[in-house]
Amino acid sequence: MFKIRHVEPNDIYPVITLAFETLPERYNPSIFNHFYESFPEGFFVALHQNTIVGFLIGIKTAQTTARILMLSVDDKHRKQGIGSALLRQFLMEMKQHYVTEVDLEVRTSNHGAVAFYKKHGFCQRGILHQFYQNGEHAYSMWKEL
Ligand SMILES: CC(C)(COP(=O)(O)OP(=O)(O)OC[C@H]1O[C@@H](n2cnc3c(N)ncnc32)[C@H](O)[C@@H]1OP(=O)(O)O)[C@@H](O)C(=O)NCCC(=O)NCCS
Repeated sequence: MFKIRHVEPNDIYPVITLAFETLPERYNPSIFNHFYESFPEGFFVALHQNTIVGFLIGIKTAQTTARILMLSVDDKHRKQGIGSALLRQFLMEMKQHYVTEVDLEVRTSNHGAVAFYKKHGFCQRGILHQFYQNGEHAYSMWKEL
């Protein structure tokens, strides 16, 4: 069993560790505190036996739009519905903030994540060439709420 809740200050360090282990991008650790302080409503964690096994960070980009910036589930806990639960919670929260459209970027090589987002109703709306530092392309994906 796992639990989804909003991030709390003590979660930040384990979230940074999980991001480092599971995401190819190298983020400045201070950015996690920044998102916590600027828009905690869009920052969720998943816990299994009091350990953080996943997180999602999203922001509002305008009055009615939001963007998912990071979503990650620990290797050992994937394919158990945790990513879906984080995403559903975020989308529900955004609806309460009058958001009508959510978008995100995902590496074109990240077939698992693309399948995951499609399953949740996201559509591809184009390719962003050399979007990542290593020259990889991104799909821009979006969903209407
Ligand atoms: C993408 C990610 C968050 C999915 O989390 P998860 O907890 O494994 O997802 P769920 O268990 O809720 O998956 C729901 C559905 O998404 C799809 N899906 C998830 N991972 C998939 C994969 N690797 N390949 C194909 N489909 C996948 C499946 O349809 C799955 O349903 P099923 O288990 O009934 O087949 C996770 O794989 C992850 O952390 N990946 C590394 C980081 C990353 O790529 N983040 C996204 C970048 S923006």
